[in-house]
Amino acid sequence: MSQIVVRMVKERLYTIHNADAFEWLRACPPRSIHAVVTDPPYGLLEYRPSEIAKMKLGRGGVWRLPPSFDGAKRRPLPRFTVLTEKDKHALRTFFLRFAELLYPALVPGAHVFVATNPLVSHLVYPSLIEMGFEPRGEVIRIVHRLRGGDRPKNAHDEFRDVSVLPKSCWEPWGLFRRPCEGRVQDNLRQWGTGGLRRISDEEPFRDLIQSLPTRKNEHEIAPHPSLKPQHFMRQIVRAALPLSRGVILDPFMGAGSTIAAAKAMGLRSIGVEIDPEYFTMAANVIPRLASLDVSEKSNGAAARLR
Ligand SMILES: C[S@@+](CC[C@H](N)C(=O)[O-])C[C@H]1O[C@@H](n2cnc3c(N)ncnc32)[C@H](O)[C@@H]1O
Repeated sequence: MSQIVVRMVKERLYTIHNADAFEWLRACPPRSIHAVVTDPPYGLLEYRPSEIAKMKLGRGGVWRLPPSFDGAKRRPLPRFTVLTEKDKHALRTFFLRFAELLYPALVPGAHVFVATNPLVSHLVYPSLIEMGFEPRGEVIRIVHRLRGGDRPKNAHDEFRDVSVLPKSCWEPWGLFRRPCEGRVQDNLRQWGTGGLRRISDEEPFRDLIQSLPTRKNEHEIAPHPSLKPQHFMRQIVRAALPLSRGVILDPFMGAGSTIAAAKAMGLRSIGVEIDPEYFTMAANVIPRLASLDVSEKSNGAAARLR
């Protein structure tokens, strides 16, 4: 492992590695990870060094500023509608490789939560299923974002009543499981996995979660272009370890929102990030993200949406 990891930070509840997730997984001891919560780059254009450089300069490339409608400064978002056949093939291959390397690293019954979007999820899920994962449905994060809903480019006036794509109001998270050994109860006893942690005695974990875009204060702490909100991530990591036992992995951790959420919930986790700048960001911001108050009260709008 030491040849693969460029840098490592180890704290009481988490360890983060600056490494390539694929190499890291290849060296990972078998049956050592109890859940995965991740938001992958899809092996596509947007996280290639050339595109990241253009995004940081604010010039061209796949990262675009969404149209401004209220004078507020917007963060760039990648365009997902530009996938060519070659891109689609690259995406399928990326997830086949990922699933193949991930499977042996997981204990039986381990759940895998994969963030995706409505335009690519159908390309992502078959690769995981082909490599032996059981599909366990999707968690839908209801979130109003700026993507979609626009009129045809350069013909806004001619087609005033037309949207090219529906305005995106949800984010699918694919949910998969490495098959259990025996019954779920046997697997829970042996490995501590196989199910999802309930919200309470009365409330099961649900596959529909009202959310908000990542809050401004979280973006100020961790200016990663794909930062996920703590309010949502904490609900996912909590569900991922049914007995709160074991280790959660985020192999594409970015600024570490999964790791921070796990720390906030008192759970153990491991993060892997290839980009040295984002790795340093994660090392600096995880404790601050983890200490944020993201209770219902402080997330008033999300609570009101219920
Ligand atoms: C969508 S972002 C994750 C953002 C994260 N959810 C957060 O809240 O900060 C995907 C991350 O995967 C990283 N990445 C891309 N290829 C990788 C690889 N082969 N190994 C590890 N990390 C990789 C990118 O640098 C990027 O930071």
